[in-house]
Amino acid sequence: MSRLVVVSNRIAPVGEGGPPQGGLAVGVLEALREQGGVWLGWSGKIVETVPDKPRFRTFGNITVVELDLTQAEYDTYYLGYANGTLWPAFHYRLDLMEFSRPNLVGYQAVNKRFAKALEGLLRPGDRVWVHDYHLIPLATELRALDIQLKLGFFLHTPFPAAQVLLGVPWHRDLVEHLATYDVVGFQTERDVAGLRDYLMVENHGTIDQEGNGEAFGRKFVAKAFPISIETAGLVRQAADMENSPQVKRLRAAMRGRRLIIGVDRLDYSKGLVRRIQAVERLFEAHPQFRSAVSFMQIAPPTRGELHQYRNIRQELEQHSGRINGKYADYDWMPIRYISRSYSRRTLAGFYRASAIGLVTPLIDGMNLVAKEYVACQDPEDPGVLVLSCFAGAARELDGALMVNPYDFEAVGDTVAGALQMTLGERRERHKTLMDRLKRWDITAWRKAFEAALAAV
Ligand code: UDP
Ligand code: G6P
Repeated sequence: MSRLVVVSNRIAPVGEGGPPQGGLAVGVLEALREQGGVWLGWSGKIVETVPDKPRFRTFGNITVVELDLTQAEYDTYYLGYANGTLWPAFHYRLDLMEFSRPNLVGYQAVNKRFAKALEGLLRPGDRVWVHDYHLIPLATELRALDIQLKLGFFLHTPFPAAQVLLGVPWHRDLVEHLATYDVVGFQTERDVAGLRDYLMVENHGTIDQEGNGEAFGRKFVAKAFPISIETAGLVRQAADMENSPQVKRLRAAMRGRRLIIGVDRLDYSKGLVRRIQAVERLFEAHPQFRSAVSFMQIAPPTRGELHQYRNIRQELEQHSGRINGKYADYDWMPIRYISRSYSRRTLAGFYRASAIGLVTPLIDGMNLVAKEYVACQDPEDPGVLVLSCFAGAARELDGALMVNPYDFEAVGDTVAGALQMTLGERRERHKTLMDRLKRWDITAWRKAFEAALAAV
């Protein structure tokens, strides 16, 4: 039988509980749960010598195949080229990008090792679906092993504009590797346009309006497949969580005050400092909300070994401390900054208990939190999503209040407006957003990608 074989660096803790952080693990797990398949990725372990064979674990209809990394591989492939070069560049932060040749060599070597491990697993008719920037060269490595199966790729991050990509050492090879897949999926049309412009500017090829690409002597399909959420399941979960102990404790702590919520990995792309400044603006320019509203930011640390991530927490703590010092009262804390992760179940309850979902990344491939916040609202009394125009989700969620995250004063004023929005308008906006999320959920996303792969 034809199987779906997914490959990604990060795999969700399938069968082990605990929150899978990051949109890739969440989205892929939901997609695989439906029809089952194989999921090959990094075990999360760093070992002295890698075992000869990968480890297999089976949970229901999903077989997880785990590979360990050595310290040198982790440093060069994961921290080095993937998260020290590609992640900042793809998020328009060439100023934070670092590059070294050993990192690139490590990146290439791990891709080769993933391809070798995959070779031993693949059967005729399998559909191979590779995810994210860690594994861009995998198709080339698989083809070198004479694997003729259809190969699909999905990029969870933004794909940058040509001028930015040109700053990435090894950009030509990266794009040639991408063109080696049969189908290359992006979050939005903006990202497809990035690749199209690059091919044109560099004279390497074209992508037509239907997404048919031709470059480096190869044909491929490049299209937008915006990732989504398991809408129906989340709606049920949020309603179930309404009377959970966690939500009761949160409500008791709020003592009748309204809540603004933010949930993000502690990443520089998420615009967290400006978000806190927007909250400061809210309390400064709209004093009626002092003592009446609190902002809770959940921000679990991520990639802490990289220096680009080290100062964010300190900076956020400084800003929250300053604002709390300025406005807090004996019975009211304006900002709660929480540096740990929660299960998605608990988050579903927290979203439902919040009047505002504040999602203001400086740039984001999609941002699943924005979609999850909407799905978790009570349709009779929904909260309002305030959303950065630079999140991929903004292309679909036009019922949200759209903001420019760099203009934090305007963000603060928009939040003030959202807190005063009439019930009628809140319901109307929520309905518009839910119509989209019901039509285009995680199943629709997976099916659309699989159909594109089947069609080549
Ligand atoms: N998430 C979680 N627990 C947390 C924080 C986040 O389960 O404490 C989940 C969140 O529900 C969402 C994902 O992690 O599904 C984050 O995905 P998103 O696309 O918003 O951002 P990314 O982290 O991929 O940049
Ligand atoms: C983003 C990336 C994923 C990554 C996730 C968590 O969603 O697109 O590829 O898995 O962040 O980051 P981490 O480095 O912990 O895997």
